[in-house]
Amino acid sequence: MSKKFNVGMIGYGWAAGAHIDAINATSNAEVTAVYSSRKLNDAELSAKHGRPMKSYTDLDALLASDVDAVDISSYPSQHKDQAVAAAKAGKHIILEKPMAMTLEDCRAIVKAAADNKVKGCVCFECRFSGQFTGTKALLDEGLLGDLHYGEIDYYHGIGPWYGQFRWNTFKKDGGSALLTAGCHALDALLMFMGNDVEAVSSISTKSKSEIFAPYEYDTSSVTILHFKGGRIGKSAAIVDCLQPYYFHTHLVGSHGSLLDNKFHSAKLHTNKAGWSQLNMKMLDSGDVSDHPYQTQFQAFFDALEAGKDMPLTSFAESLKTFEVLFAADKSAEEGGRLVKLSELA
Ligand SMILES: NC(=O)c1ccc[n+]([C@@H]2O[C@H](COP(=O)([O-])OP(=O)(O)OC[C@H]3O[C@@H](n4cnc5c(N)ncnc54)[C@H](O)[C@@H]3O)[C@@H](O)[C@H]2O)c1
Repeated sequence: MSKKFNVGMIGYGWAAGAHIDAINATSNAEVTAVYSSRKLNDAELSAKHGRPMKSYTDLDALLASDVDAVDISSYPSQHKDQAVAAAKAGKHIILEKPMAMTLEDCRAIVKAAADNKVKGCVCFECRFSGQFTGTKALLDEGLLGDLHYGEIDYYHGIGPWYGQFRWNTFKKDGGSALLTAGCHALDALLMFMGNDVEAVSSISTKSKSEIFAPYEYDTSSVTILHFKGGRIGKSAAIVDCLQPYYFHTHLVGSHGSLLDNKFHSAKLHTNKAGWSQLNMKMLDSGDVSDHPYQTQFQAFFDALEAGKDMPLTSFAESLKTFEVLFAADKSAEEGGRLVKLSELA
């Protein structure tokens, strides 16, 4: 293609910085504009990112400009209004997680995009990581057989050392352990097990450490998932731990198991008494500069060019993860009651 997609950033914080570099590194898109509540200097902005860029403090003005797509990396409670406005303006949308703070708002975004025929991509970028594309390839080769149990857990202590702590501690923008960050692990579990979840049960608690005392909501939760056909799963979302970042992945099937980067496969006749090793880059950091945004955004702009939906993280696909997530949070609020997905209005 000769002309690149012009992208306008909505929000100019930490994640936005990593997104700009990733978009500019794709072959067919570049960031040409930024909307921020702060007044930015266009010359400084352009010099910093190595190309002409225009800044706006009025969202409507950005949406009236010639950008083809927007990238929403603002506070989570702003996502819904900004995404709906962008869809109505006919702009394609990259949307940081969480999609929005309520299921109703997530659905409103998906509907606005469909009504206005724009494409969406949710930043569940872990689906494009070396660890999870490698894991998925192993499953697709049938090396573990049919999965009947899976657990993927998210351990990342989000304390004062992590920039977003200043707003993440409040219910308004943090929401729950699952909404604020554990959604990545739940989403990965659904990628591997399928998203045909029938019911969930979740319970939650919080650390006694003073470090995490500012949180207005429970910062550790564990969810049990009942999949169609009797398969079961578990996902823990722990944002108040003091340990290295860790994405615990354990998948168990009829022909073998995978534990993080280790596996046993009866199909390969490996020795069941010891794990065989997979050499892949592990998800071991909460630093956005280390996240596979570029691979994900390249896939998005390639899909736009082909007039197709985003693979793996389209709005419709990601909405399924948020349906399970909001059912889990409802269960936790009700002390762990089994909540059927069919109960969601
Ligand atoms: N997918 C991931 O792994 C991942 C990782 C980090 C953040 N995120 C998401 O990205 C979004 C933004 O998070 P973040 O970590 O970039 O937060 P951030 O605090 O750096 O930025 C959040 C918002 O604050 C604004 N902002 C920042 N500094 C400001 C200032 N001095 N004055 C006025 N406004 C200012 C930004 O423009 C942005 O709208 C959230 O939705 C978050 O959940 C996702």
